[in-house]
Amino acid sequence: MAWDKEDFREQYSKLARIYDPGMWLYRALGIDMEAYRKIAAGALMLKPGDTVVDLGCGTGLNFPYLQAAVGDTGKIIGVDLTPAMLEQAEQRSKKAGWANVELIEADMSSYQFPAGANGLISTLALATVADYDDIVARAARQLPQGAAFAEFDLQWPQRWPTWLAKFATLLNRPAGVTFDVIDRRPADSIQRYFSAVEAREVYFGAGVICSGIVPDREGK
Ligand SMILES: C[S@@+](CC[C@H](N)C(=O)[O-])C[C@H]1O[C@@H](n2cnc3c(N)ncnc32)[C@H](O)[C@@H]1O
Repeated sequence: MAWDKEDFREQYSKLARIYDPGMWLYRALGIDMEAYRKIAAGALMLKPGDTVVDLGCGTGLNFPYLQAAVGDTGKIIGVDLTPAMLEQAEQRSKKAGWANVELIEADMSSYQFPAGANGLISTLALATVADYDDIVARAARQLPQGAAFAEFDLQWPQRWPTWLAKFATLLNRPAGVTFDVIDRRPADSIQRYFSAVEAREVYFGAGVICSGIVPDREGK
């Protein structure tokens, strides 16, 4: 069964300090999370001075790519449910000397997107939230026309033998990836509410990076 919000807060409070070092596990399996984050951030096509929101930002592993795109004159807004993860993100920002990072403790299910945001990114977070479709729909309504949304999530690898897909899902269980989460399809929601959608499967179909832009309100 999928975790509820309290489960997420509790588990990620415990994981916060070991989250970044724990990424070696994925690297050891040949899963290049950094490359996937970079592709998702690049899909936003941000410019210097832009504002970008990172939903479920965690320890801020997307921030280096977002910072490189928006520069000192831009702004990164990191939103996360778990204070301990935000503390790690704050330390990362301080260490790097980024003065343009705002961290907000909030549930992305109720977070109101800033009207002036140019981009929205969510990596390894959107699919963990049961009402992800509502979040994507709201983003399409609240963000200005032309703003971009990019997400990267794990998904059920349909071309894998079932036993291997089940095993991989179980390996990700400590991070909240349960069988119902892995069946979710936030990329389909982006397809539904955004235009110019591009989707790309990674790691033999076990992940998907999807992006789109807010259509004009008259339709796609
Ligand atoms: C697997 S981590 C991903 C962190 C980061 N985006 C990355 O790519 O490394 C999932 C993050 O989503 C956050 N999260 C889970 N549910 C959330 C919600 N409803 N609203 C905001 N953040 C949430 C967790 O606290 C955690 O930091």
